[in-house]
This record gives sequence, C-alpha cells and structure tokens, in this order.
Amino acid sequence: MSQPLRLGIAGLGTVGIGVVKIIRNHAELLAQRTGRPIVITAVSARSKGKDRGVPLGDYAWEDDPVALARREDVDVFVELMGGSEGAAKDATEAAIASGKDVVTANKALLAHHGQALALAAEATGHVIRFEAAVAGGIPVIKALTEGLAANEIGRVNYILTRMENAGLTYEEAFNEADGLGYLEADPNLDVGGIDAGHKLSLLAAIAFGTQVDFPSVELEGIGAITIEDIHQAADMGYKIKLLGVAQMTGRGLEQRMSPCLVPDTSPLGQLQGGTNMVVLEGDSVGQIVLRGAGAGEGPTASAVMGDVMDIARGFRVSTFGQPATTLRKARAARAAVPAPYYLRLQLQDKPGALAKVARVLGEAGISIDRMRQYGHQDTTAPVLIVTHKTTRSSLDEALSGMATTGVVEGAPVAIRIESV
Ligand SMILES: NC(=O)c1ccc[n+]([C@@H]2O[C@H](COP(=O)([O-])OP(=O)(O)OC[C@H]3O[C@@H](n4cnc5c(N)ncnc54)[C@H](OP(=O)(O)O)[C@@H]3O)[C@@H](O)[C@H]2O)c1
Repeated sequence: MSQPLRLGIAGLGTVGIGVVKIIRNHAELLAQRTGRPIVITAVSARSKGKDRGVPLGDYAWEDDPVALARREDVDVFVELMGGSEGAAKDATEAAIASGKDVVTANKALLAHHGQALALAAEATGHVIRFEAAVAGGIPVIKALTEGLAANEIGRVNYILTRMENAGLTYEEAFNEADGLGYLEADPNLDVGGIDAGHKLSLLAAIAFGTQVDFPSVELEGIGAITIEDIHQAADMGYKIKLLGVAQMTGRGLEQRMSPCLVPDTSPLGQLQGGTNMVVLEGDSVGQIVLRGAGAGEGPTASAVMGDVMDIARGFRVSTFGQPATTLRKARAARAAVPAPYYLRLQLQDKPGALAKVARVLGEAGISIDRMRQYGHQDTTAPVLIVTHKTTRSSLDEALSGMATTGVVEGAPVAIRIESV
C-alpha cells in the first residue's frame, strides 16, 4: 500500500467532528478504496479543552490554524472553521503557499475569494475541493465537473427547505434545525438568504465557466415571511421554499435566490426537513435531479471525505471545473422571467382602501387572480392577493405605489409563485 495521506483538520465543530468519526470508523474501507491509509496528523480549534465526544489525543494540537496549515507532516489542509475572512482565509492561503491541497466546506470563503484562491492553488499545481460547501451531502460539484462535464448547462435550480415546519414558529423551527446541526453559526446567514446565495454563486461559476460573482446574486431573505404566510400559503395549496436559479441568457448571467411558493403536490412541495434539491439542465443529458440532506454532521462530512479520497487517489480537477485562468467575468443580468406573485398587505379598514390597492396594481399592468381578506386586527386587516404573471420590476413599481396610497400599513410581503 502507498504512503498514507496526512490530513490537518482546522475546525472541530459539527462538520470537523463528523470527518474525524468517518476516518476513525471507516479507516479500512477508506484505505481499500483509495489504495492508501488516510490519517489525521494534527487538528486545531478555538478551545483545546472542550469535550468533543471523540478521542483526539492521537493527533497533534495547534492553537493556530495557520501553523497547522504550514506543518510539514500535513499533505492536505482541511478547513472546517467557516467565515469568509480571518482564520479560515489566512490558514487557507498559508496552506496553498506551503504547497498543500485544500478541502473546505466554507462557501462564504469561496464566494468571496474563490477566484483568487483557485488561481493561487492552480499556479503551483494544487487543488481546492469544496463539495461540502454546496448542498451538504449531495455530490453536486462532482456531478457538474465530472459526470456532466461534456454538457452545456442551461439552468441550475437549487431548492432548500427548512421554511415551513407546519405548526412551528420560526423560533421553534430554527431551534430544531440548530439542534440537528443544520444551521449556520450566524443565523443571519440563513435568514438573509446569504448562505444560500453563496452556494448558488459557486454552482453558477462551475455551470457557466464564469468567475464567482456573489455580489450580483439577487438575494431575498426569509426574514419578512411570517408563520401567517406559511399558513395562508398552505391554505391556498402552496408551500414556501427558498429557491435559487442561475441561468445564462443573452443578456448575461442571472442569479437569484428568493423564497417562492410552490404547489404542495409538486416534487419541490414535497421536500421535507433539511432536504435540498438541485435540478441541472444539460444540453445532452436533459434534466438531472439530485436530492438529499443539505446539511448536518454526517452528510457534510461525507462530502468532505469524498474530496479527500479523490486527492488520495491522485484524481485532480480544477477548483471550478476548468483552469481558473480561463474563467470568464460574467455580465450580471437581472432575472426577468414573469411569474405570478403572492402579496400580503396590512390594509387600513377604510372605505375604498381595496380599490386604491387594485388601482395601483392596474397602473403597473398587474392583474389580480385571487384575493382574500381576513379578520380585522384593530384598525387594519390582512389582505392576500395572488396576481397573474408579472415581472419583478412591475411588481416593485406597484409596491412603491402602494406606499403612497395611505391605506397600506408597513411593507407588503411579496413572494414569487413557481409552477415547478
Ligand atoms: N453544519 C453544517 O451542516 C454545514 C453544512 C455545509 C457546510 N458547512 C460549513 O462547514 C464549516 C464548519 O461549519 P460547522 O457547522 O462545523 O461550524 P461549527 O460547529 O461552528 O464549528 C466551527 C469550528 O471551527 C473552530 N474555529 C472557529 N474559529 C476558529 C479559529 N479562529 N481558530 C481555530 N478554530 C476555530 C471552532 O472551535 P471551537 O469548537 O473550539 O469553538 C469549531 O470547532 C463552515 O464553513 C460551514 O459553512 C456546515
């Protein structure tokens, strides 16, 4: 058997400990499949004394992840700390400068610095692998860069659940997801859609051969959506999902991540819990649907180990599926495909209020498909409107028009309805 592949793991949280467990529990299987033992030589985290539920005494400890990244007895630096700046970036740069391959689960780091890091790694013949950074356990990066490599990709859809655990408040739903290790350390990354946007920008780079362009992702978080919306949507036969779409059009690269309503009987509507789904459209293959756990200890560690095993086997693919020097800068285009929308407004209980709202919609060229008014809350009443197909820019025009009617309280909630 060949020389062992020696790992240095920085970050011993949900994912890091998951990786340690796989290496301990499956040592023989990993060695059989790759032809060489995969061993951990050193680890790093913030607090050395923390009980992490697995024995770590066999591994050297480094307080400083940069020192870990530079160790001579480390072949592959496994970055599982998180964050786009600070320790994760410094240590990844140090690993590359020391001539090591890198495996990371860190979408924030790559969404912000992926191009520069890939250029640096590839300049010295090294790789950065990041399967775990997108869609947890689903091997979507491998699907795009290997199995579908001969296809021109038309569109990437990325769907996350976690929005509508029936009957739970957001706090309860988030606490539950947190307990399962599904949530990001900073919940704002989840609620603001930023984390999902990071992932979409990475998928788009691989799918379209473009440089990662996270700042151009049109992001809409789930912060404005209430449990009320979830119930109303269910009442009308819909579920709320976070949906990402990336596609290359004649106008440029469209990337949008936003909450959407989908029919509850559709495949997307049936997704539960922490399940993610990625739908890829290739010119030769047609549509490919990948579905599985999008987060959590086991699934994410499984993806990290897939990357580690590729390196152990000597299998090397450029970070974004083609040399970073050949990735084009994409022209960003705003998504313009029309769709019906769900609107929830808090309307003042005044004669003619509804007519004013209908007029503003009409002036923006938007017609109403369905409308419902619910019980009064003091001097206002919630009104739900489902529009016929319209563009986001017409809708934005109508929403700013509503602010001037004097009968709409607060900002209306607008959610796109997808017929997928
Ligand atoms: N959790 C998931 O389901 C999931 C899914 C996909 C991708 N990811 C990504 O995987 C990465 C890790 O996520 P996680 O959920 O495992 O996070 P986590 O549970 O919060 O663990 C982070 C680990 O990094 C260590 N750490 C943080 N800052 C450090 C520093 N400056 N120096 C040394 N160690 C430091 C922490 O040390 P202490 O333990 O001592 O505090 C902890 O062990 C992130 O990039 C995340 O986006 C996570």
